[in-house]
Amino acid sequence: MRRAIVRGTGHYLPERVVENTWFEDKLDTSDEWIRTRTGIERRHFAADDQRTSDLGIHAAQAALANAGITADQIDAVIVATSTPDLTFPSVATMVQAGIGMRSGFAYDVQAVCAGFIYALANADAMIRAGLADRILLIGAETFSRIMDWTDRSTCVLFGDGAGAVVLEAADGAGDSSDRGILATDLNSDGQYRDLLYVDGGVASTGTAGHLRMQGNLVFRHAVEKLADTAHRALDKAGLAPQEVDWLVPHQANLRIIEATARRMQLPMEKVVLTVADHGNTSAASIPLAMSVANSEGRFQSGDILVAEAIGGGLAWGSVVLRW
Ligand code: ACO
Repeated sequence: MRRAIVRGTGHYLPERVVENTWFEDKLDTSDEWIRTRTGIERRHFAADDQRTSDLGIHAAQAALANAGITADQIDAVIVATSTPDLTFPSVATMVQAGIGMRSGFAYDVQAVCAGFIYALANADAMIRAGLADRILLIGAETFSRIMDWTDRSTCVLFGDGAGAVVLEAADGAGDSSDRGILATDLNSDGQYRDLLYVDGGVASTGTAGHLRMQGNLVFRHAVEKLADTAHRALDKAGLAPQEVDWLVPHQANLRIIEATARRMQLPMEKVVLTVADHGNTSAASIPLAMSVANSEGRFQSGDILVAEAIGGGLAWGSVVLRW
């Protein structure tokens, strides 16, 4: 069976690292509050002249190098982002130009923190359908650009960064027969718009706007919906939670991640954690976590990975793959 396997991963984090203590003289907050409520210790912020596409290009180049291929061997670029450089063209076409790829096609996917899961499902479907053999998938964000720096309940949570994955068609021959994306599960429910949104846009205010979130309500939805979607995707793949080797969750809050792992009856040793060092990088968080873990040699060929995320929309979903 034709499947989409992971051929390589890469990531990029801006140089500037901001510790929790940085917020202490600007807001009524503390390192202790941020650590205990979220698990976040630090995050990276892009330089003033760095755009989302710049972060994405760095991550893309790292993933291509890790996959051992060149840009001209890629058929498509998909970028998951909610913080594009411009309204258009897409960040994906900017990355395409940046890596020197002159053929194929490129487009963005916008599903906020679930963006990379949506992009993986998209790429998997295209590879299975024969529309592409190799797809470069990137999650890239500069959420520091949409923070309200006077709102302590949001601005301490987010960071900037980019992660990338090269997916490649495997035709089922040889030992790659059962590797690759096994199942995907996508969901959204637009009635929850007001729980998490940006209060600006070209067709409303004409401004970029700032992120607004009712964090405690999002928290409750996250705890319930993430385990549900992961279980559904595992069911579709014909696997039981006990067969999972690694959970690669969206890195929004350590307490949400722990609650999801508990509901899936997975020990925390099987969970990839980057939230302490990256904060919430929205659509970049899963490919960043995947690339960091892969660069540390933590995934073995044949391991079962589950990735899951929830974000604005609400939009949520999960992907099961055999590494
Ligand atoms: N420092 C100190 N106190 C704070 C801070 C802060 N940085 N932020 C909020 N507080 C206060 C609140 O004002 C409140 O005070 P009050 O009781 O006097 O009113 C108190 O802390 C508790 O606030 P809660 O919002 O109930 O705190 P909670 O434990 O829920 O933690 C948090 C807040 C971290 C935001 C949590 O709700 C969360 O992680 N939510 C989910 C976020 C998420 O997963 N988002 C989805 C992805 S993001 C995306 O799609 C873009």
